[in-house]
Amino acid sequence: MTTPTRRAFLGGLALPVAAPFAGSSGVRLREAGGLELPERHGTPQELAGDEDFWSAVASAFEIDRSIVNLNNGGVSPAPQPVTAALARHLQAANQAPAYVMWRLQQPNREAVRSKLARFLKVDAEELAFTRNASESLQICQFGFDLERGDEVVCCDQDYPRMINTFKQRVAREGIVLRTVRIPVPCEEPERIVAAYREALTDRTKLMLCSHVVNLTGQVVPVKELVALGRARGIPVLVDGAHAFANLEVDLRDLDCDYYATSLHKWLFAPIGTGLLYVRRERILPLWPLMACDAKQDADIRKFEEIGTHPAAYALAVSDALTFHERLGPARKRARLNFLRDRWATHIARHARVRLNTSLKPGMSNSLGNFAIEGLDPVAIAGHLFEKHRIFTTAIGHADCSGVRVSPSVYTTLEEIDRFCAAVDDIVEHGIPA
Ligand SMILES: Cc1ncc(COP(=O)(O)O)c(C=O)c1O
Repeated sequence: MTTPTRRAFLGGLALPVAAPFAGSSGVRLREAGGLELPERHGTPQELAGDEDFWSAVASAFEIDRSIVNLNNGGVSPAPQPVTAALARHLQAANQAPAYVMWRLQQPNREAVRSKLARFLKVDAEELAFTRNASESLQICQFGFDLERGDEVVCCDQDYPRMINTFKQRVAREGIVLRTVRIPVPCEEPERIVAAYREALTDRTKLMLCSHVVNLTGQVVPVKELVALGRARGIPVLVDGAHAFANLEVDLRDLDCDYYATSLHKWLFAPIGTGLLYVRRERILPLWPLMACDAKQDADIRKFEEIGTHPAAYALAVSDALTFHERLGPARKRARLNFLRDRWATHIARHARVRLNTSLKPGMSNSLGNFAIEGLDPVAIAGHLFEKHRIFTTAIGHADCSGVRVSPSVYTTLEEIDRFCAAVDDIVEHGIPA
């Protein structure tokens, strides 16, 4: 563990000082999305267990610590710089909504679009703001022209809403849905590629794959699936809900045609923010969910024509991205994986505990799923909450039934250890009737 020598801003950025920070030689830069952290020189891995550093990160979040929230995969709290920015923008809009939102805030959204495009190494004209991953994905799933008998392929571990979206097209339009099964956990990515390959036919028109499986944290070999599809002229829609701002995501490298994500999960943006990437030449043929003027047909903004809605959310995404970059994506990833490994290796010592998540580097993101032989995951998650106020989520799936655990950057080691002790207790003494 490195020793703090002085307090400094992340990356040593020379930014204007907003106000003295009480009781330290540091300064507070909240308005600029700032984060005051002890200066550290270690690698992300060395820093992952440095509680001084991570408690400084945690202080940016206004957390209810009367419970232990280990379901950050569902949706994340936003840090204070983000909630403050959102409140400011909402308040400003409310002063003269039609003027402020449409004349001032909407144009500013373009700067946020460019900032996200730089981060993702794509063209800003290929990025649309949405309200969540569901909306981003459904734009593609409903907007893609398909005829009766055309086939789409997805995995039975994709997000249920997305599977249901295709099922609706099956019921209404007579398309065919082929669903693949993948091993749990899967440490041989080529087996996932093989499962998709077997499901493709001459009538396959679209593939959906999760970048990270929401049930287990499994990383899916998206780049290889995109190559598989491309060789047969089949575009791939990637569900990046659990990958974006958790894994390192390089869209140019993945080479996919569509990439959809929420921003309120791992980017820590305001609840109700999402993003859709559509490769430039794919924009025109993709129908928006809400109709737009024909002159917008080739414009990515056609997907944002959803009627009156606050611009504040997209603007505050900028603060979330600044927070993410100041924190450092590699440091964040290392800490999240460190927390997962801490609880997972502890409970995996029990013979009755099975991990549905691989801990091998690169095989999963920071989500973890465990099962206890002979116990219902719903009962385990219920007991963890009723007795210990530890909030997890039960996963019901034939191949990976278990309890999903997803700490975040503000989670303390004491909370992780309390969770471990609670699981030890369940394994040793069972769940009282
Ligand atoms: C893999 C995956 N895709 C899509 C979604 C939908 O996200 P949202 O509810 O933010 O639309 C989720 C939500 O948990 C998810 O895990």
